[in-house]
Amino acid sequence: MTDSGRLVGYLPANQVGRLASMRTDEDSWDINTGVGSTALFVAAARALGGRAHDAPATDPFAELFVSAAGGEWADLLAGRVPDHPLLTPDFGAQFQQHQLARTRYFDDYLRTAVTSGIRQIVILAAGLDSRAYRLPWPDGVTVYELDRPSVLEFKHRTLTSAGKQPLADRREVAVDLRGDWPNALRGRGFDAAQPTAWLIEGLLIYLTPAAQDQLFDALNTLSASGSRAAIEQMDPLPADTAAALAADDTAGAEWVRLIYNEPRDEATAWFAERGWTGERISLPAYIRALGSVPVGDDEHRQSLIDLVTVVKS
Ligand SMILES: C[S@@+](CC[C@H](N)C(=O)[O-])C[C@H]1O[C@@H](n2cnc3c(N)ncnc32)[C@H](O)[C@@H]1O
Repeated sequence: MTDSGRLVGYLPANQVGRLASMRTDEDSWDINTGVGSTALFVAAARALGGRAHDAPATDPFAELFVSAAGGEWADLLAGRVPDHPLLTPDFGAQFQQHQLARTRYFDDYLRTAVTSGIRQIVILAAGLDSRAYRLPWPDGVTVYELDRPSVLEFKHRTLTSAGKQPLADRREVAVDLRGDWPNALRGRGFDAAQPTAWLIEGLLIYLTPAAQDQLFDALNTLSASGSRAAIEQMDPLPADTAAALAADDTAGAEWVRLIYNEPRDEATAWFAERGWTGERISLPAYIRALGSVPVGDDEHRQSLIDLVTVVKS
């Protein structure tokens, strides 16, 4: 453990997050900076991981976005950055596996939702999510994609230049998910009287626990009976792990300063108290259910992650 790790080990968990984080309540970003760059990072992991013949999911659009970002991102895909963190046998292999497994989980969730008759999909923190372009949507589906304006602009530019057409009625909603996004969503045509399938993938750790509660409250208020939500959640990193990451001069240090590494409500329990029923599975258990072996052991970060699906009665 580093010196700072020893110090942090004695701090209450909520202060560990504050110590490491460089976030503020009103901070902003584009696709290349701060939280926005995490959308490129996970898309790069999907692009690289999707090349394996036994990948549980593929996302051809990930390659398109990461190449369009240019610079080191394009170099990474072209094999010109062999020491990139996403290519290391420990972190890189684990992270690629995580991303492809979660892609599969949420793809399956959305396919099931539309099979059950839901026609309104809301992707919170859509980033470079390409599901509106690559899932086989039935007629009448509307996909709302919420993210920060600059992130959506990059996405729009890239897809338009490549001549891509969505397979559903796709509507961008440029918002801050810490603010009044429900009004903006309604303004784009969202109908709270219709059941909705919500998706929250790769978002919650970038919100404070209070902002997460506010987001869950809004989602619950906007959800008609029969709505569903699929959520990726992560337990806080152990204090010494977070402090060691923050102290290192690596991509991990940058990431740990972007997250709120704080205890927060567990999603299944939060929604159960409000009349939703659901289930959760740990990421390693889900990877095993797909017939693969989790890279690394159970001490790894993967075991902190759960995939959750809840349905409103
Ligand atoms: C790790 S990326 C995940 C993107 C996408 N869901 C995926 O899994 O590929 C995190 C995304 O959350 C978005 N995000 C985080 N906090 C947000 C906020 N307060 N308002 C809007 N978007 C936010 C970022 O802009 C970024 O696109």
